[in-house]
Amino acid sequence: MEIFKTAAELQKFALDAKRSGKIIGLVPTMGYLHAGHASLIDIARKKADIVIVSIFVNPTQFGPTEDLDKYPRDFEHDLELCTQHGADVIYAPAPDAMYEADASTWVEEVKLSKVLCGVSRPIHFRGVTTVVAKLFNLTLPDIAVFGEKDAQQLLVIKRMVRDLNFPVEIIAAPLVRQNDGLALSSRNRYLSETEKSNALVLSQSLYAARGAIESHGLEGVDLIIEAMKEKITAAGGRVDYVEALDTANLEPPTAETKEVLLALAVFFGTTRLIDNQIIQVK
Ligand code: PAF
Repeated sequence: MEIFKTAAELQKFALDAKRSGKIIGLVPTMGYLHAGHASLIDIARKKADIVIVSIFVNPTQFGPTEDLDKYPRDFEHDLELCTQHGADVIYAPAPDAMYEADASTWVEEVKLSKVLCGVSRPIHFRGVTTVVAKLFNLTLPDIAVFGEKDAQQLLVIKRMVRDLNFPVEIIAAPLVRQNDGLALSSRNRYLSETEKSNALVLSQSLYAARGAIESHGLEGVDLIIEAMKEKITAAGGRVDYVEALDTANLEPPTAETKEVLLALAVFFGTTRLIDNQIIQVK
């Protein structure tokens, strides 16, 4: 496995691979890899000749009061996981190597990124789309794999790819959970044991809501959401949002809606967790 630290080395590698007809798969990450990331690498491994995993804690997607400095990092562990799952290349640029000091260009999606997480994290998705666009230019991927855990991110990236004609297929990988239901996240390591067990209310209430929507449709969805909020608050969570939106446009569902994203963001202590269900509507 090769490890590149600079954009120039990586882009040269990708150009050479492309010219020799190789299919390139990209798995963008912020490191501190877990089984969820491993599943993304496994998907890329099946579909691509060359699998590139980027590991970069992207400063432009963190707000001024967010956890950029304390975001967990463990490069040795990441290296081991990437090796075990057959990645060919790790791109791990130094913190200040990804952006020029006077960088003044952004890639911004301005509709889907403005709801859900975009309300409390107003600059987040602009940072994500900008860094992902840069990674696409550096790695020239045929496919790129993103997790459904970050369902809104996935929709925003798909929209960016469509709108800017990036020649890359975006592959959605199913969310991976612990046996007890907690969605895997690098941020779970911030949780105390009590917070971890309280946070199980998230997946439990999402599954209950999913069952209700699958059986009865979207008629009573507002009541379902209110009940979820009450349950989560009773378990010690501080709700940022719980919402059900049409996956086609991230607007409130209508009679035409075929699929909803039931998504939530909740604080346990100072840790903000997200989770979701994507539900087909009959
Ligand atoms: O999902 C993530 O880990 C990040 O948002 C991403 C896509 C790697 C961009 O920094």
